[in-house]
Amino acid sequence: MTNDIDKLQNEHTDFAKLLDLLDAQIGLFHRGEQPDYDLMLDIFYYMTHYPDRFHHPKEDLAFAKLAERDSNTKPAVEELARQHRVIAESGSQFLDNLNAALAGAMLKRESVEIPGLEYVTFYRNHMKMEERELFPLARTLLRDDDWAKIGVAIESMDDPLFGPQVEERYRTIHQQITRAAQCGCAVG
Ligand SMILES: [Fe+2]
Ligand SMILES: [Fe+2]
Repeated sequence: MTNDIDKLQNEHTDFAKLLDLLDAQIGLFHRGEQPDYDLMLDIFYYMTHYPDRFHHPKEDLAFAKLAERDSNTKPAVEELARQHRVIAESGSQFLDNLNAALAGAMLKRESVEIPGLEYVTFYRNHMKMEERELFPLARTLLRDDDWAKIGVAIESMDDPLFGPQVEERYRTIHQQITRAAQCGCAVG
């Protein structure tokens, strides 16, 4: 069903906004200024609690079905599943580092700036690859009953940041995104 791909695609647009915010925070760190660790923590908390738990598992099931329909997609499907694991592991590592920083540990440049930039770049490339290689095929090759089975097989929940109800812990990011949208810039 096209709707399901539209939803995944719209979520990419939302995740990209967070990657822009993250990029801006890493830029502050690079220039020797103080980044907003609380904001970065909220972003990584979201990334590890919504996309890693709902968006990527849904894609894994959809792409696996696609590989059954068109075996030429198999290498891309396997690569994207691997990338989901990398994103989840690096995101949770980053979350641990940020929690340590907020608990008073001094974070070295190498443990924030480099992994942070790697995460942002890797994630952007990951989404581009999905949009370029598999989303168009999924629109044509996956049927309504495939999506219905996927819907039954995995848990789903409303997006706690971009969904109808903004969860309390995401209020600050939500405001930052709204401000960034109003001035047409990434808020640093
Ligand atoms: Fe993905
Ligand atoms: Fe995706």
